[in-house]
Amino acid sequence: MRQKLVAGNWKMHGNSQSIRELLAALTPAVAESAAEIAVIPPLVYVPLCVDLLAGSKLSIGAQTVSEQCDPGAYTGEVSAEMLADSGCHYVLVGHSERRSLYGENDALVAAKTEAALNAKVLPIVCVGETREQREAGETLKVVGRQLDVVLATLKSEHEKITVAYEPVWAIGTGLTATPEQAQEVHAFIRTQLAAHSAELADTVRILYGGSVKAANAAELFAQPDIDGGLVGGASLDAEEFAAICNAIG
Ligand code: PGA
Repeated sequence: MRQKLVAGNWKMHGNSQSIRELLAALTPAVAESAAEIAVIPPLVYVPLCVDLLAGSKLSIGAQTVSEQCDPGAYTGEVSAEMLADSGCHYVLVGHSERRSLYGENDALVAAKTEAALNAKVLPIVCVGETREQREAGETLKVVGRQLDVVLATLKSEHEKITVAYEPVWAIGTGLTATPEQAQEVHAFIRTQLAAHSAELADTVRILYGGSVKAANAAELFAQPDIDGGLVGGASLDAEEFAAICNAIG
């Protein structure tokens, strides 16, 4: 049985004051949630979150990681070992904003996934098609290719990844994939994992992301292959995010 996961990707939002307020309201509100819950703050606020969340059920993730494993002259980069050392349990890799704004390609995403696993930080591998790709009927081809590169690159520990299906046209737009549209792609991803091994298909969680909110969470999370959510905008509001976490049955 896969434990459902809801992760809040704060992107480049927040400051120490707003984070204190958000977590003070969120922590008690999700104490009874059946889901595993993670928050993914901007990197500089990880230590603050570690302090504020000590003793709670929430864990912490980072939004990106270097593909470089060894220390060295990589100005601006942060290694997976550093993330682990700072208290990060998860890291996002291949978020569509990293792919489209910062030129991250499939090979780099795969290298980052491997670097995370080497340091025992659990990667959440994001995949998803643009609106043009969906309209051209290329959704499964694009998602399949993005995930294949990661699965083919990893030498071991494939079962430790989480996949997040995030249609790019649904991120931050208020447009959500219908539960049926999302389920179709999740089922396809599950088949792709099964081609690797039946155990992988059973173990790996597939999250949905893209304008998840309290009003649509329960219906999305009820789909058989949706194992939780990666939540952007709505994770900045304690009440809304708690309602999403508490929508896990
Ligand atoms: P959104 O973002 O929930 O604001 O659409 C999701 C994401 O980018 O992870």
